[in-house]
Formats: sequence, C-alpha cells, structure tokens
Amino acid sequence: MMNDLKLEVKNLAKTFTLHQRNGMEISGFSDVSFSVKKGALLALTGPSGAGKSSILKTIYRTYLASYGCIEFHRKNGLILDLVSSTESQILALRKQEMGFVTQFLKVLPRITALQTVAAPLLEVGETKHRAFSHAADLLELLGIREELFHVSPLTFSGGEQQRVNIARGVIAPKELLLLDEPTASLDEQSSDKVLNLLMGLKEKGIAMIGIFHDKQKIARVADSSFNVTGNACMNSAIVQKEAA
Ligand SMILES: Nc1ncnc2c1ncn2[C@@H]1O[C@H](COP(=O)(O)OP(=O)(O)O)[C@@H](O)[C@H]1O
Ligand SMILES: [Mg+2]
Repeated sequence: MMNDLKLEVKNLAKTFTLHQRNGMEISGFSDVSFSVKKGALLALTGPSGAGKSSILKTIYRTYLASYGCIEFHRKNGLILDLVSSTESQILALRKQEMGFVTQFLKVLPRITALQTVAAPLLEVGETKHRAFSHAADLLELLGIREELFHVSPLTFSGGEQQRVNIARGVIAPKELLLLDEPTASLDEQSSDKVLNLLMGLKEKGIAMIGIFHDKQKIARVADSSFNVTGNACMNSAIVQKEAA
C-alpha cells in the first residue's frame, strides 16, 4: 500500500498570458515530470522564480496548465487528470482529497486560534469536544502558548500565525497536501516541530509535495526531490506575442 502512486505529473508546462499587455507571454515553468507515492514527501527545489509555487498552484488548479497532465490517484481507485477535469470535480477533490498549506493565515476577526484550527475537523463531522481537544493538542505541539488559544490570531506574530495555519492545514489531512514554504519564517525550534508533524503525516500514508528553502530540512523530511530548472527561457522569459 505504501508504494502506491498518489500523483503523477507528466511534461507539465505553464505559460502566463498577460491580457492587459497585448497578450504578452511569460514562461512560468516547463518540462516538469515527477511522481509522488502515498506516505512520501517530494520536495520541489530550485532558485527563486523557477516556478515552484506555480507548479503547486497548477496542481491545485488555481492555475491551468498550458501543456501536460497531472494524474491524481483517487481514494476510489480511479485516476483523474487535474488538467482536463471539470471545475466541479476539482472542487470535490479540494474538499475531500487535496489540501494546500501556505505560510499565510487568513485571519478572521473574532475567531479564536482554537476555532480556526478545529474548523476543518468540524467540517468533516467530528464532535465539537474532540475537534477542540485535538486542535489544542496540535497548537501545544507547535509551541503556541495556551493563553493564546482563545484569542483571535489577528494580533499574533508572523511565526505564530504560520503555525496556526499549519495546524489548521494538517488537522484533518487530505490524502495529498501541497506545502508552499510552510516553515518559511519559523525559528529552528518551531520549524523542527513542523517537520516532525509532517513525518507523522507520512506514517499515516499522506502524500506531500513541499517547497522548503533549506537543504537540511529537505534532507530530513523528503523522500525524493525535483529540481525546477526546466524553465529553459529563464533569461529570456518574456516572449512578445505577435500582435493580432
Ligand atoms: N499569475 C501570474 N502571472 C504572470 N506571471 C506569473 C504569475 N505567477 C507566477 N508568475 C511568474 O512565473 C515565474 C515563476 O514564479 P513562482 O512560481 O512564484 O516561482 P518560485 O515559487 O519558484 O519562486 C516567475 O517569473 C513569476 O513572475
Ligand atoms: Mg514560491
């Protein structure tokens, strides 16, 4: 079971067309192929601007690929191509099988840290008591002081907000998690705790694709990596389209 494929990305490419600029085209990334197994973490590496975040957004279908396919192996055993699937299939998948975790928390006023973290568990029908107790455990594990549990994260530090966001992103983990620099501005101790949490998710069979900017972190959590340099037009990324 642990060797089962979760996601297969084949020859993926993305070109951005800037409609406000006469259809000018900017190359996002190209020639991206990799696969991720259940219970494994694949790290996307490469310089800033190489297209790492855009690849995650293309998998999540925030961006539509220009070329290639993304085969998602569903819980029901069927394979869904995330490039050509319908909007409603994508929405269902996001709800049940694919999650996106960034370093940025969308803070809602008057919603406490505990409520923020517990929400995804309540959504899948967990009892209030168990959802809140699990949320408290996670926040404690990530080193958030208990006196902050009942406060809105609006006034939290950047690192505290980031940890609340990660707790929220993993409390009811989807089968595939996309992680865009989840440890970006955390101190060593906090990012250690986050990495431990991710290792625990692997043991549960969760597949992950993550962007981490430090090699030591990658060595610790990743089972494989894909270096994004496929952007052959890095230095001449801007191609002027012929005016129609
Ligand atoms: N929505 C967009 N519209 C136009 N260009 C974009 C868009 N998103 C990303 N890009 C461009 O694609 C390239 C890759 O960006 P990104 O994926 O954020 O890189 P990374 O995460 O590796 O630093 C950059 O040149 C960036 O400017
Ligand atoms: Mg990025």
